[in-house]
Amino acid sequence: MSDRPEETADVTNVDCTGTTALVTGSTNGIGRAAALALGRLGAHVVVHGRDTEAGEAVVAELSRTPGSGTFARADFADTDDVRALAETVRTETDGLDLLVNNAGGLFREGRLTDVGVDYTFHVNHLSPYLLTAELLDHLASGARVVTTASAAHQGSTLDLERVTRPDGGGGAYGHSKLANVLFSAELARRLDAAGRAVTANSLHPGAIPGSGFTRFLPGPLSRAADALSFVPGTASVADGAAEVLFVGVSPRTADVTGRYFSDLSPSTPSEAARDRDAARRLWSRSAELLGVEEPLSGYGDRSVTPS
Ligand SMILES: NC(=O)c1ccc[n+]([C@@H]2O[C@H](COP(=O)([O-])OP(=O)(O)OC[C@H]3O[C@@H](n4cnc5c(N)ncnc54)[C@H](OP(=O)(O)O)[C@@H]3O)[C@@H](O)[C@H]2O)c1
Repeated sequence: MSDRPEETADVTNVDCTGTTALVTGSTNGIGRAAALALGRLGAHVVVHGRDTEAGEAVVAELSRTPGSGTFARADFADTDDVRALAETVRTETDGLDLLVNNAGGLFREGRLTDVGVDYTFHVNHLSPYLLTAELLDHLASGARVVTTASAAHQGSTLDLERVTRPDGGGGAYGHSKLANVLFSAELARRLDAAGRAVTANSLHPGAIPGSGFTRFLPGPLSRAADALSFVPGTASVADGAAEVLFVGVSPRTADVTGRYFSDLSPSTPSEAARDRDAARRLWSRSAELLGVEEPLSGYGDRSVTPS
Protein backbone atom coordinates (compact mmCIF):
# COMPACT_ATOMS: atom_id res chain seq x y z
CA MET A 1 0.00 0.00 0.00
CA SER A 2 1.11 3.58 -0.63
CA ASP A 3 2.33 5.92 2.09
CA ARG A 4 -0.10 8.44 0.55
CA PRO A 5 -3.58 7.72 1.96
CA GLU A 6 -5.21 9.50 -0.99
CA GLU A 7 -3.59 7.00 -3.39
CA THR A 8 -4.73 3.95 -1.40
CA ALA A 9 -8.24 5.42 -1.13
CA ASP A 10 -8.20 6.24 -4.87
CA VAL A 11 -9.18 9.86 -4.29
CA THR A 12 -6.18 11.66 -5.83
CA ASN A 13 -8.55 13.22 -8.39
CA VAL A 14 -10.90 14.61 -5.75
CA ASP A 15 -10.50 18.38 -5.54
CA CYS A 16 -11.16 19.61 -1.99
CA THR A 17 -10.28 23.23 -2.79
CA GLY A 18 -12.70 25.54 -1.00
CA THR A 19 -13.80 22.89 1.48
CA THR A 20 -13.17 22.84 5.22
CA ALA A 21 -12.53 19.80 7.39
CA LEU A 22 -12.16 19.41 11.14
CA VAL A 23 -10.09 16.34 11.99
CA THR A 24 -10.01 15.67 15.72
CA GLY A 25 -6.89 13.99 17.03
CA SER A 26 -4.78 15.16 14.09
CA THR A 27 -1.63 16.06 16.02
CA ASN A 28 -0.53 12.44 15.59
CA GLY A 29 -1.22 9.06 14.00
CA ILE A 30 -4.17 8.38 11.71
CA GLY A 31 -5.69 11.85 12.15
CA ARG A 32 -2.44 13.61 11.28
CA ALA A 33 -1.95 11.50 8.14
CA ALA A 34 -5.58 12.15 7.11
CA ALA A 35 -5.24 15.90 7.72
CA LEU A 36 -2.10 16.13 5.57
CA ALA A 37 -3.73 14.09 2.79
CA LEU A 38 -6.76 16.40 2.86
CA GLY A 39 -4.37 19.35 2.59
CA ARG A 40 -2.73 17.77 -0.46
CA LEU A 41 -6.23 17.56 -1.99
CA GLY A 42 -6.68 21.30 -1.33
CA ALA A 43 -8.81 21.39 1.84
CA HIS A 44 -8.53 23.82 4.70
CA VAL A 45 -8.08 21.64 7.78
CA VAL A 46 -8.73 22.53 11.39
CA VAL A 47 -6.14 20.43 13.21
CA HIS A 48 -7.05 19.38 16.75
CA GLY A 49 -5.37 17.78 19.74
CA ARG A 50 -3.93 18.76 23.12
CA ASP A 51 -0.30 19.07 22.05
CA THR A 52 0.05 22.61 20.68
CA GLU A 53 3.60 22.13 19.41
CA ALA A 54 2.63 19.00 17.48
CA GLY A 55 -0.51 20.74 16.18
CA GLU A 56 1.44 23.77 14.95
CA ALA A 57 3.90 21.41 13.22
CA VAL A 58 1.00 19.83 11.29
CA VAL A 59 -0.27 23.32 10.39
CA ALA A 60 3.23 24.19 9.11
CA GLU A 61 3.22 21.04 6.98
CA LEU A 62 -0.25 21.93 5.67
CA SER A 63 1.06 25.36 4.60
CA ARG A 64 3.34 23.51 2.16
CA THR A 65 0.33 21.78 0.51
CA PRO A 66 -2.30 23.27 -1.84
CA GLY A 67 -4.52 23.39 1.25
CA SER A 68 -4.09 25.16 4.56
CA GLY A 69 -4.58 24.62 8.27
CA THR A 70 -5.18 26.13 11.67
CA PHE A 71 -4.77 24.50 15.07
CA ALA A 72 -7.37 24.40 17.84
CA ARG A 73 -6.49 22.85 21.19
CA ALA A 74 -9.05 21.00 23.30
CA ASP A 75 -8.84 18.28 25.92
CA PHE A 76 -11.62 15.78 25.23
CA ALA A 77 -11.84 14.96 28.92
CA ASP A 78 -13.11 18.52 29.51
CA THR A 79 -16.60 19.52 28.32
CA ASP A 80 -15.78 23.26 28.41
CA ASP A 81 -12.81 22.65 26.12
CA VAL A 82 -15.01 20.79 23.63
CA ARG A 83 -17.62 23.56 23.64
CA ALA A 84 -14.84 26.13 23.12
CA LEU A 85 -13.49 24.07 20.19
CA ALA A 86 -16.94 24.07 18.57
CA GLU A 87 -17.20 27.83 19.13
CA THR A 88 -13.79 28.39 17.51
CA VAL A 89 -14.83 26.33 14.48
CA ARG A 90 -18.16 28.18 14.20
CA THR A 91 -16.41 31.55 14.44
CA GLU A 92 -13.39 30.88 12.28
CA THR A 93 -14.92 28.88 9.42
CA ASP A 94 -17.89 29.49 7.12
CA GLY A 95 -19.11 25.92 7.51
CA LEU A 96 -17.81 22.37 7.69
CA ASP A 97 -17.80 19.96 4.77
CA LEU A 98 -16.16 17.18 6.73
CA LEU A 99 -16.08 16.40 10.44
CA VAL A 100 -13.76 13.52 11.35
CA ASN A 101 -14.33 12.34 14.92
CA ASN A 102 -11.00 10.58 15.31
CA ALA A 103 -9.41 11.67 18.62
CA GLY A 104 -9.24 8.88 21.13
CA GLY A 105 -7.31 5.93 22.32
CA LEU A 106 -6.92 3.06 24.71
CA PHE A 107 -6.29 4.30 28.24
CA ARG A 108 -5.05 1.90 30.85
CA GLU A 109 -6.32 3.66 33.97
CA GLY A 110 -9.99 4.26 34.76
CA ARG A 111 -10.98 7.55 36.40
CA LEU A 112 -13.98 9.84 36.44
CA THR A 113 -14.05 13.16 34.53
CA ASP A 114 -15.69 16.48 35.47
CA VAL A 115 -19.14 15.11 34.62
CA GLY A 116 -18.63 11.88 36.57
CA VAL A 117 -18.05 9.71 33.51
CA ASP A 118 -15.24 7.20 32.92
CA TYR A 119 -12.31 8.82 31.09
CA THR A 120 -12.26 6.37 28.15
CA PHE A 121 -16.00 6.67 27.51
CA HIS A 122 -15.81 10.45 27.87
CA VAL A 123 -12.84 11.01 25.52
CA ASN A 124 -13.79 8.38 22.94
CA HIS A 125 -17.57 8.79 22.84
CA LEU A 126 -19.06 11.60 24.92
CA SER A 127 -16.84 14.37 23.53
CA PRO A 128 -17.37 13.46 19.85
CA TYR A 129 -21.11 13.31 20.62
CA LEU A 130 -21.01 16.79 22.20
CA LEU A 131 -18.79 18.25 19.48
CA THR A 132 -21.04 16.89 16.73
CA ALA A 133 -24.14 18.22 18.49
CA GLU A 134 -22.54 21.65 18.86
CA LEU A 135 -21.59 21.70 15.17
CA LEU A 136 -24.80 20.29 13.65
CA ASP A 137 -25.97 23.69 12.44
CA HIS A 138 -22.52 24.43 11.03
CA LEU A 139 -22.44 21.37 8.74
CA ALA A 140 -22.77 22.38 5.10
CA SER A 141 -25.23 20.74 2.74
CA GLY A 142 -23.50 17.59 1.51
CA ALA A 143 -21.23 17.42 4.56
CA ARG A 144 -19.98 14.10 5.93
CA VAL A 145 -19.42 13.07 9.54
CA VAL A 146 -16.87 10.26 9.85
CA THR A 147 -16.18 8.55 13.17
CA THR A 148 -13.07 6.43 13.74
CA ALA A 149 -14.38 3.41 15.60
CA SER A 150 -12.62 0.04 15.74
CA ALA A 151 -13.13 -3.67 15.22
CA ALA A 152 -12.49 -3.76 18.97
CA HIS A 153 -16.20 -2.94 19.37
CA GLN A 154 -16.87 -6.63 18.75
CA GLY A 155 -17.36 -8.48 21.99
CA SER A 156 -19.00 -5.52 23.77
CA THR A 157 -22.65 -4.95 24.50
CA LEU A 158 -23.96 -1.57 25.56
CA ASP A 159 -23.88 -1.19 29.33
CA LEU A 160 -24.82 2.33 30.38
CA GLU A 161 -24.21 1.54 34.04
CA ARG A 162 -20.49 0.93 33.59
CA VAL A 163 -19.83 4.39 32.11
CA THR A 164 -20.18 6.16 35.45
CA ARG A 165 -17.59 3.88 37.12
CA PRO A 166 -13.80 4.13 36.61
CA ASP A 167 -13.16 1.59 33.85
CA GLY A 168 -9.86 1.53 31.93
CA GLY A 169 -8.11 -0.91 29.62
CA GLY A 170 -9.32 -3.02 26.72
CA GLY A 171 -12.84 -3.58 28.08
CA ALA A 172 -13.56 0.14 28.42
CA TYR A 173 -11.94 0.76 25.03
CA GLY A 174 -14.06 -1.85 23.21
CA HIS A 175 -17.19 -0.50 24.88
CA SER A 176 -16.38 3.08 23.83
CA LYS A 177 -15.78 1.91 20.26
CA LEU A 178 -19.16 0.13 20.30
CA ALA A 179 -20.57 3.51 21.33
CA ASN A 180 -18.85 5.08 18.28
CA VAL A 181 -20.59 2.68 15.88
CA LEU A 182 -23.99 3.04 17.60
CA PHE A 183 -23.64 6.85 17.76
CA SER A 184 -22.77 7.13 14.09
CA ALA A 185 -25.70 4.96 12.97
CA GLU A 186 -28.15 6.86 15.19
CA LEU A 187 -26.79 10.18 13.91
CA ALA A 188 -27.31 8.99 10.32
CA ARG A 189 -30.92 7.97 11.04
CA ARG A 190 -31.72 11.27 12.76
CA LEU A 191 -30.06 13.41 10.07
CA ASP A 192 -32.03 11.52 7.46
CA ALA A 193 -35.31 11.91 9.37
CA ALA A 194 -34.58 15.63 9.75
CA GLY A 195 -34.12 15.91 5.99
CA ARG A 196 -30.50 17.03 6.33
CA ALA A 197 -28.18 16.38 3.38
CA VAL A 198 -25.42 15.18 5.68
CA THR A 199 -24.08 11.62 5.93
CA ALA A 200 -22.66 9.83 8.97
CA ASN A 201 -20.52 6.71 8.89
CA SER A 202 -18.04 4.97 11.18
CA LEU A 203 -14.98 2.94 10.30
CA HIS A 204 -12.30 0.55 11.44
CA PRO A 205 -8.90 1.91 10.34
CA GLY A 206 -7.12 -1.44 10.66
CA ALA A 207 -5.04 -2.73 13.55
CA ILE A 208 -1.89 -0.67 13.20
CA PRO A 209 1.18 -1.95 15.00
CA GLY A 210 3.58 0.79 16.05
CA SER A 211 0.94 3.56 15.93
CA GLY A 212 0.65 6.04 18.80
CA PHE A 213 -2.29 4.00 19.99
CA THR A 214 -0.12 0.98 20.75
CA ARG A 215 1.97 2.86 23.33
CA PHE A 216 -0.97 2.44 25.70
CA LEU A 217 -0.88 -1.33 25.44
CA PRO A 218 0.79 -3.19 28.33
CA GLY A 219 4.63 -3.26 27.90
CA PRO A 220 5.19 -6.63 26.15
CA LEU A 221 2.23 -6.11 23.80
CA SER A 222 3.41 -2.60 22.95
CA ARG A 223 6.93 -3.86 22.11
CA ALA A 224 5.48 -6.73 20.04
CA ALA A 225 3.30 -4.21 18.15
CA ASP A 226 6.31 -1.97 17.45
CA ALA A 227 8.23 -4.95 16.07
CA LEU A 228 5.28 -6.00 13.88
CA SER A 229 5.19 -2.57 12.20
CA PHE A 230 8.34 -3.56 10.29
CA VAL A 231 6.71 -6.68 8.80
CA PRO A 232 5.81 -6.06 5.13
CA GLY A 233 2.06 -6.05 4.45
CA THR A 234 1.15 -4.91 7.97
CA ALA A 235 -1.38 -2.05 8.15
CA SER A 236 0.24 1.39 8.53
CA VAL A 237 -0.96 4.74 9.81
CA ALA A 238 -1.30 5.79 6.14
CA ASP A 239 -3.61 2.80 5.52
CA GLY A 240 -5.75 3.87 8.48
CA ALA A 241 -5.91 7.40 7.10
CA ALA A 242 -6.87 5.98 3.68
CA GLU A 243 -10.02 4.53 5.28
CA VAL A 244 -10.83 8.03 6.61
CA LEU A 245 -10.24 9.56 3.16
CA PHE A 246 -12.34 6.88 1.45
CA VAL A 247 -15.35 7.48 3.70
CA GLY A 248 -14.73 11.23 3.99
CA VAL A 249 -14.22 12.42 0.41
CA SER A 250 -14.55 9.59 -2.12
CA PRO A 251 -17.36 10.07 -4.68
CA ARG A 252 -18.03 6.34 -4.20
CA THR A 253 -19.24 6.92 -0.64
CA ALA A 254 -20.97 10.27 -1.20
CA ASP A 255 -24.50 8.88 -0.79
CA VAL A 256 -23.73 6.19 1.77
CA THR A 257 -24.92 6.84 5.31
CA GLY A 258 -25.37 4.84 8.50
CA ARG A 259 -22.70 2.29 7.57
CA TYR A 260 -19.54 0.94 9.18
CA PHE A 261 -16.51 0.66 6.89
CA SER A 262 -13.51 -1.62 6.97
CA ASP A 263 -10.95 -2.43 4.24
CA LEU A 264 -12.35 0.34 2.03
CA SER A 265 -15.85 -1.12 1.83
CA PRO A 266 -19.04 -1.21 3.88
CA SER A 267 -18.85 -3.96 6.46
CA THR A 268 -21.23 -5.49 9.01
CA PRO A 269 -20.50 -4.51 12.60
CA SER A 270 -21.38 -6.77 15.52
CA GLU A 271 -25.00 -7.56 16.37
CA ALA A 272 -24.73 -5.30 19.44
CA ALA A 273 -23.61 -2.46 17.17
CA ARG A 274 -26.69 -2.93 14.98
CA ASP A 275 -29.11 -2.72 17.92
CA ARG A 276 -31.30 0.32 17.25
CA ASP A 277 -32.76 0.35 20.72
CA ALA A 278 -29.25 0.46 22.19
CA ALA A 279 -28.35 3.29 19.81
CA ARG A 280 -31.36 5.27 20.92
CA ARG A 281 -30.67 4.67 24.62
CA LEU A 282 -27.04 5.70 24.14
CA TRP A 283 -28.14 8.89 22.39
CA SER A 284 -30.52 9.89 25.20
CA ARG A 285 -28.18 8.90 28.04
CA SER A 286 -25.28 10.80 26.48
CA ALA A 287 -27.36 13.99 26.50
CA GLU A 288 -28.36 13.30 30.12
CA LEU A 289 -24.75 12.76 31.21
CA LEU A 290 -23.77 16.05 29.60
CA GLY A 291 -26.81 17.89 30.93
CA VAL A 292 -27.82 19.05 27.45
CA GLU A 293 -30.98 18.81 25.41
CA GLU A 294 -30.99 15.75 23.16
CA PRO A 295 -29.66 16.78 19.73
CA LEU A 296 -32.09 16.17 16.82
CA SER A 297 -34.57 15.23 19.54
CA GLY A 298 -37.64 15.12 17.34
CA TYR A 299 -36.08 12.63 14.96
CA GLY A 300 -35.51 9.48 17.03
CA ASP A 301 -36.81 6.17 15.70
CA ARG A 302 -40.34 6.02 17.07
CA SER A 303 -40.72 2.38 16.01
CA VAL A 304 -38.26 1.38 18.74
CA THR A 305 -39.59 1.03 22.26
CA PRO A 306 -37.14 2.40 24.80
CA SER A 307 -36.39 -0.11 27.58
N1 LIG B 1 -3.96 2.52 15.77
C1 LIG B 1 -4.81 1.49 15.73
O1 LIG B 1 -4.40 0.32 15.60
C2 LIG B 1 -6.28 1.75 15.83
C3 LIG B 1 -7.16 0.67 15.57
C4 LIG B 1 -8.52 0.91 15.64
C5 LIG B 1 -9.00 2.18 15.95
N2 LIG B 1 -8.13 3.20 16.21
C6 LIG B 1 -8.67 4.52 16.54
O2 LIG B 1 -8.08 5.50 15.70
C7 LIG B 1 -8.10 6.77 16.35
C8 LIG B 1 -6.74 7.42 16.23
O3 LIG B 1 -5.79 6.56 16.81
P1 LIG B 1 -4.23 6.61 16.46
O4 LIG B 1 -3.78 5.21 16.33
O5 LIG B 1 -3.97 7.55 15.36
O6 LIG B 1 -3.68 7.16 17.87
P2 LIG B 1 -2.61 8.27 18.26
O7 LIG B 1 -1.47 8.25 17.30
O8 LIG B 1 -2.35 8.03 19.71
O9 LIG B 1 -3.40 9.65 18.06
C9 LIG B 1 -4.48 9.95 18.90
C10 LIG B 1 -4.91 11.38 18.66
O10 LIG B 1 -6.00 11.66 19.56
C11 LIG B 1 -5.67 12.78 20.35
N3 LIG B 1 -6.14 12.61 21.71
C12 LIG B 1 -5.92 11.58 22.55
N4 LIG B 1 -6.45 11.83 23.75
C13 LIG B 1 -7.03 13.05 23.68
C14 LIG B 1 -7.72 13.87 24.60
N5 LIG B 1 -7.94 13.52 25.87
N6 LIG B 1 -8.16 15.08 24.17
C15 LIG B 1 -7.95 15.48 22.90
N7 LIG B 1 -7.29 14.75 21.99
C16 LIG B 1 -6.83 13.55 22.38
C17 LIG B 1 -4.14 12.90 20.32
O11 LIG B 1 -3.78 14.26 20.43
P3 LIG B 1 -2.87 14.88 21.62
O12 LIG B 1 -1.89 13.84 22.01
O13 LIG B 1 -2.28 16.11 20.99
O14 LIG B 1 -3.84 15.19 22.67
C18 LIG B 1 -3.81 12.39 18.92
O15 LIG B 1 -3.87 13.43 17.97
C19 LIG B 1 -8.54 6.51 17.80
O16 LIG B 1 -9.91 6.85 17.92
C20 LIG B 1 -8.35 5.00 17.95
O17 LIG B 1 -9.24 4.44 18.90
C21 LIG B 1 -6.77 3.00 16.14
